[in-house]
Amino acid sequence: MGRVTAQSTEPRPLTEPGTVLHPAEAPDAPWWRDAVIYQVYPRSWADSDGDGIGDLPGITARLPYLRDLGVDAVWLSPFYVSPMNDAGYDVADYRDIDPRFGTLEDADRMLAAAHDLGLKVLVDLVPNHTSSEHAWFRAALAAGPGSPERDRYVFRDGRGPHGEEPPNNWPSVFGGKGWSRVTEADGSPGQWYLHIFDVTQPDLNWHNPEVRAELESVLRFWCDRGVDGFRVDVAHGLVKAEGLPDWHGAVGLYDEVVTEEGPEADGDTSVLDHNAGGHAPMWDQDGVHEIYRSWRRVLDSYGRPDRILCAEAWVKPEERLARYVRPDEMHQAFNFEFLEAPWDGAALAAVVESSLRSNDAVGAPTTWVLSNHDVVRHASRLGLDQHRPRPNGIAADDPQPDAELGLRRARAATALMLALPGGAYVYQGEELGLPEHTTMPDEVRQDPTYHHTKGEVTGRDGCRVPMPWVRDAPSLGFGPGDHPWLPQPEAYAGLAVDQQDGVAGSTLELYRTLLRLRRSLGLGRGSFAWDGRTGGDVVAFRSAPAEDGGEVLVVTNTGAAPVALPAGEVLVASGPLGADGTLPADTTVWLRPTAG
Ligand code: GLC
Ligand code: MG
Repeated sequence: MGRVTAQSTEPRPLTEPGTVLHPAEAPDAPWWRDAVIYQVYPRSWADSDGDGIGDLPGITARLPYLRDLGVDAVWLSPFYVSPMNDAGYDVADYRDIDPRFGTLEDADRMLAAAHDLGLKVLVDLVPNHTSSEHAWFRAALAAGPGSPERDRYVFRDGRGPHGEEPPNNWPSVFGGKGWSRVTEADGSPGQWYLHIFDVTQPDLNWHNPEVRAELESVLRFWCDRGVDGFRVDVAHGLVKAEGLPDWHGAVGLYDEVVTEEGPEADGDTSVLDHNAGGHAPMWDQDGVHEIYRSWRRVLDSYGRPDRILCAEAWVKPEERLARYVRPDEMHQAFNFEFLEAPWDGAALAAVVESSLRSNDAVGAPTTWVLSNHDVVRHASRLGLDQHRPRPNGIAADDPQPDAELGLRRARAATALMLALPGGAYVYQGEELGLPEHTTMPDEVRQDPTYHHTKGEVTGRDGCRVPMPWVRDAPSLGFGPGDHPWLPQPEAYAGLAVDQQDGVAGSTLELYRTLLRLRRSLGLGRGSFAWDGRTGGDVVAFRSAPAEDGGEVLVVTNTGAAPVALPAGEVLVASGPLGADGTLPADTTVWLRPTAG
């Protein structure tokens, strides 16, 4: 399998060292342009009632931890009423809380507590599909072909003499077919409905005005409750190409391509490029932008210019992604090209340059990210062979990550990320250096990917394991119960918050220091220019915020051999520096360079 690279074209040469590639933000720039936003995965963060599932009161109780960590905001993955076939990304009621997570009053209390601590709150909006248990889908099944109820979803007659073949060849991202056939009220085999994800996640029809009105109303519902923004799930998927044409390229988002033939085993096509061989008809259609323009108008109608929309859009190349953050659309879009870059100086420098350029071209900040609930945690990912594609989950019989190497690189990668201009997202537990759970028993796996591919693709459970807070407590302090919904690996005990709190050199203290300095130095708002050291294994840049102009030099050594440490005052380093004045392998340093 070829190395995972961005689009087939050669990266263009980097901007000359010393030339400002990205200007500093204006001093009065809004909060989100350089915010660090912490992703809480509600079922795995803190469980207040001991049922083994994290919940809103658990989150509220632990919010001071986030203030002390030094982040600006929190994004919560879905907590809505859901049958939980895709961990809550299958929403049955957008306006209520699943009882496992609490109540609307708990959500209000969580919001108020966060705001009291100076933290903003983003919620997850899932507009591409509902749960099959949503009242609309039940109504669609009951109402029959040609009804207005069916028109809210993507129902079609099948192909073949008796409609026994699906309407087109699209697979599901989770494996298997992207269509399921329903049984009509009279018991006869009926129409098919589209589900790009699980069979219990029917895609909505975004050509239907009722769908548009409903989701705008959901936006208003949460704005009225006081949220500060929305992370928009599968933002590149809402509109499908006219006529739903067959597609022979890849559709995977998180990893290996899953087609009807199974995960792609070989070939030159980047497995991450779901537009390989043309433009995939289910992704990144021009029609999505009109939707985000109208959402922007909804948000802006509140006269509060600081509420944001962040796109989860697995779109390439970066110029296409930047279209989601044009001035009248969303505010942020996760930079997955950065997440997907291998631990390689040239690859990282290329993605930093192209991301800043494409976002600057539309006046948006770049939004950096290394981990989330869909990908192998970066402390493990970076401990794998970097010449292989990024896997979707790691099972016990797969090649295991080098934990020490992975953590060292993860700390260096984070120190690089948090010095870059723009916004950044941190996924719960990465501040503890948590590894992926790679030896989870198959019986406990819940990701539909694992089940729909009959175990061929491991899936995302390994990055969703409950947080370790206290070493010597039931479920490592996750909650009063002994049985968290996913088992915690042994390594988590030594990484619990209470084991790292106040411990010099711990990953938790590194994150706290990085976040404190990032804020005080204004790095998220700084200008960006390459430093002449960039090249080969080294990524080096200079950042200066508009306010004081004092430069910070950031150097990352991705190579296996030490490089010379530039002269200057060291502000923070992701690991120990060489006694001989060197920057060791897989280490990032921030320093005030000595002039000259
Ligand atoms: C997004 C979510 C992922 C979910 C999918 C379907 O990619 O991040 O967890 O499975 O959408 O909603
Ligand atoms: Mg609970």
